[in-house]
Amino acid sequence: LAPEPRAPQFPIPANVYAETVVSVRHYTDRLFSFRITRPQSFRFRSGEFVMIGLPNAEKPVFRAYSVASPAWDEELEFFSIKVPDGPLTQHLQKIQPGDTVLMRQKSTGTLVLDALTPARRVFMISTGTGIAPFASLLRDPDTYEKFDQVVLTHTCRDRAELVYGQELAASLKDDPLIGELTEGRFTLYNSTTREESDCMGRITALIGSGKFYSDLGVEPLNPETDRVMICGSMEMLKDVKELAENHGFVEGSLSAPASFVVERAFVG
Ligand code: A2P
Repeated sequence: LAPEPRAPQFPIPANVYAETVVSVRHYTDRLFSFRITRPQSFRFRSGEFVMIGLPNAEKPVFRAYSVASPAWDEELEFFSIKVPDGPLTQHLQKIQPGDTVLMRQKSTGTLVLDALTPARRVFMISTGTGIAPFASLLRDPDTYEKFDQVVLTHTCRDRAELVYGQELAASLKDDPLIGELTEGRFTLYNSTTREESDCMGRITALIGSGKFYSDLGVEPLNPETDRVMICGSMEMLKDVKELAENHGFVEGSLSAPASFVVERAFVG
């Protein structure tokens, strides 16, 4: 049951949905996730983002958030950074069940399956909150229809920041819709860069050294058999995009599907 909505302090602007926070979970002092009610008429493709705001000003600040839940879910899930002075996140991090969150009505984005041509394996490369669009895609049956093997990499500063993705990965097999589909076909690869863990280093370094392949026991990235989806900070995108291009991958779009796609993980 959705919590009783509390009245927002400011009028809701035209052409935005006003939705109710259903749940909030804090992972660290930098990361949290939240779920909101889903407008009946809202449709999106797994992997896309929407603009999120709060009704705390006459002209609310909106920021882009990848939808982390799959397209079939009754609620919408998001995974967010907390920036102490962030125009939106300094307030958003304080939301509680029953509060109102604003959402612009149109979703968009490049991290969509239709921007890739079919292949055997897909590698979803993420850092920090860049895992969010993949959390959506991993729970979408179309992902397993299109690809035989799905590898998600998630690199964060410390181990606590990996928990969101680890719990998501563990929950896949029990999912009534996609549980069976994912059996033996999904792999999560984690690393940390600032706290000691079983696997350390940036994903670019781990791929570059070959440790990534030997850890997983898989063939190296190959544009003939693989597709790559990338989401993280601006610097991460630049470096992983370069790595993909050096391996012969070509950036795709809805109008010209190809072998890799990129989206920045938004902060603020
Ligand atoms: P590092 O700790 O070496 O900066 P953030 O939370 O700052 O967005 O970082 C998330 C993760 O992304 C961190 O592990 C960080 O490593 C890593 N990272 C940052 N920049 C790059 C980059 N250019 N290429 C690959 N990984 C990166």
